[in-house]
Amino acid sequence: MSEFTSTIRTIEWKDTFSRMIDQTKFPEHFEYIDIKTGDSMFDAIRTMIVRGAPAIGIAGAHGIVLYAQEGINQFDNRQDFVNWLIEKAQYMKTSRPTAVNLMWACQKQIDIIKNSTSDKAGIIEELKQNAIKLENEDIEINRKIGDYGAEVVPKGATILTHCNAGALATVGYGTALGVVRSAFAKDNTVQVFADETRPRQQGARITTLELTMDGIPVTLITDGMCSYFMKKGMIDMVCVGADRIAANGDTANKIGTYTVAIAAKYHNIPFYVAAPLSTIDTSIKTGDDIIIEERSHDEVTMINGKPICAKGVNVINPGFDVTPNELITGIITEKGILRPDYRKSIQEVFKN
Ligand code: MRU
Repeated sequence: MSEFTSTIRTIEWKDTFSRMIDQTKFPEHFEYIDIKTGDSMFDAIRTMIVRGAPAIGIAGAHGIVLYAQEGINQFDNRQDFVNWLIEKAQYMKTSRPTAVNLMWACQKQIDIIKNSTSDKAGIIEELKQNAIKLENEDIEINRKIGDYGAEVVPKGATILTHCNAGALATVGYGTALGVVRSAFAKDNTVQVFADETRPRQQGARITTLELTMDGIPVTLITDGMCSYFMKKGMIDMVCVGADRIAANGDTANKIGTYTVAIAAKYHNIPFYVAAPLSTIDTSIKTGDDIIIEERSHDEVTMINGKPICAKGVNVINPGFDVTPNELITGIITEKGILRPDYRKSIQEVFKN
């Protein structure tokens, strides 16, 4: 295990505040930022200082501890404190709309607030301990995902990935890149092709950075190139992360993932999604019910602060798309690899 993945935490609770790696500064700078209020956590999630579904879940949980710390002296009455805090926690869920891990982790904190019999200070302590537990579990879960996923990586495979579903999208180790890490640990001839991932370039800025730091061979390509390399027989497998998976297996992930899945199907290349069970939203039947974030038009019209198109041109900028379940070979989770029919395999995994 390299120093990078074994020591670096993307986000970590530090006694009274949250410390995270500022992902808006990549690849020029590798800097930490300390978040000390609930509102600044809301903004850190919204502006993608912290990003990636599992990481923003933990960020949301931290944000609620921060709100609790702020609220303790504002309310004499315990019930007023609790009511106010639940409202703030519900608000934290709205900092980004697509990744369900955010709502999942915030809801875990809300359940603690609702069920606690402790005084105000005791509630804060319980929220803090739960946030730390979720952090530690995230790494354990990702290692399990990695180990299950490594079993389906062919020897010497070139794995195509989209966006960043790595250590930097989680607390550590990563989901799709966790599969890469576990596969590489067994077979160091495995390599990665990373889609650039317009418009925010998470593939170029983040995936190439963390794989290079780990000594895992990575080749950067632009988004439109994937089918070219598939046709040439240079891609053996696709592995991506997920932001929300519906009860039928339809999967929302970074915009462009759907295109990759169609191209993979056409070229008969296995297409895997790697995600923790907390990314599966059994309350929605299909991907049609997933809310897709619409982001600022500047992300499309500018690169590095410079305009790249005609002034005033029409722009649409959805942050995610939904890959239909029939294009997905398997969903790699901490409880094993789910296979079609996903409606059944998803139901089954939640029973156990
Ligand atoms: O907009 P982002 O950078 O938060 O989007 C991230 C992705 O789409 C990831 O693939 C997904 O969250 C899975 S991260 C393990």
